[in-house]
Amino acid sequence: MKGRDVISIRDLTRDEIEHIFSVADSMADIASGKKEGNALANKILATLFFEPSTRTKMSFESAMLRLGGRCIGFSEVGATSLAKGENLHDTIKVVENYCDAIVLRHPKEGAARYAAEMSEKPVINAGDGSGEHPTQTLLDLYTMKKAMGTIDGKNVLLVGDLKYGRTVHSLVRALTTFGADIYLISPKELEMPEEVKKEIKVKAEGEKIEEYIDVADVIYVTRIQKERFPDPAEYAKLSGKYRIDSRLLEGAKEECIVMHPLPRVDEIAYNVDGTKHAWYFNQAFNGVPVRMALLSLIMGVNI
Ligand code: NCD
Repeated sequence: MKGRDVISIRDLTRDEIEHIFSVADSMADIASGKKEGNALANKILATLFFEPSTRTKMSFESAMLRLGGRCIGFSEVGATSLAKGENLHDTIKVVENYCDAIVLRHPKEGAARYAAEMSEKPVINAGDGSGEHPTQTLLDLYTMKKAMGTIDGKNVLLVGDLKYGRTVHSLVRALTTFGADIYLISPKELEMPEEVKKEIKVKAEGEKIEEYIDVADVIYVTRIQKERFPDPAEYAKLSGKYRIDSRLLEGAKEECIVMHPLPRVDEIAYNVDGTKHAWYFNQAFNGVPVRMALLSLIMGVNI
């Protein structure tokens, strides 16, 4: 995988994804800080964030630092030459000279693909508008495998904003490859786009979680993506539409897990946090070993 761009989850085969997971497993003690790592000593990662981020940016940075590497980058466009009018093309052409790989988050769909075409160094898409978020999918699948052993044949409910949510656009494609039974739960206005649906296998589609709560092995909840709505009134109408709470989960299987890429707004009640269903914080931790594995493979380091 040396030198590879990761723009869409489709850029990775099932075997490559499984390989990333086995490398991530072997790095568990380094990810948690129990053991020191130095596989990425002398390597530099550039993180270019044109949109807000907590987990994605910090877990990429943590992954680099845990392996002895270093990070440069920005999350505030106003502090860079972009504020002087420099464009994405020139920014990438300059930054590639300073690093071994680039992680890019940008509001425009297709921006990461464009950057990858410009750059000699590998580019990892950390979210391009409503497009995709492939490394989130890697840690989502990894979490499901940890929780359930397998993904094949499991009932996975994707709930919320399936139209604008980039995490689910990557995730459903991978879930199809991994043989999950996919249930799409959203308001009519926020349905999964047709172009994604063409590529996936859907078991059922609906608007109510209650209809499928008893069969769910995974409930993957998403935030309604306020920043993508052209009309704030439309957002106001749909926000708060779904709320998972401990009462609703009484109707779920014992072993059903609740996941969320985070940040949550009000989609998951705090009374779920203390239940055995809550996997979202563990999921956020898994961003570190999975990104450690991906960065090592892309940077061509032998582990
Ligand atoms: C997501 C994103 O940025 O797409 N966050 C993340 O990376 N964990 C989800 C979201 O913002 O709702």
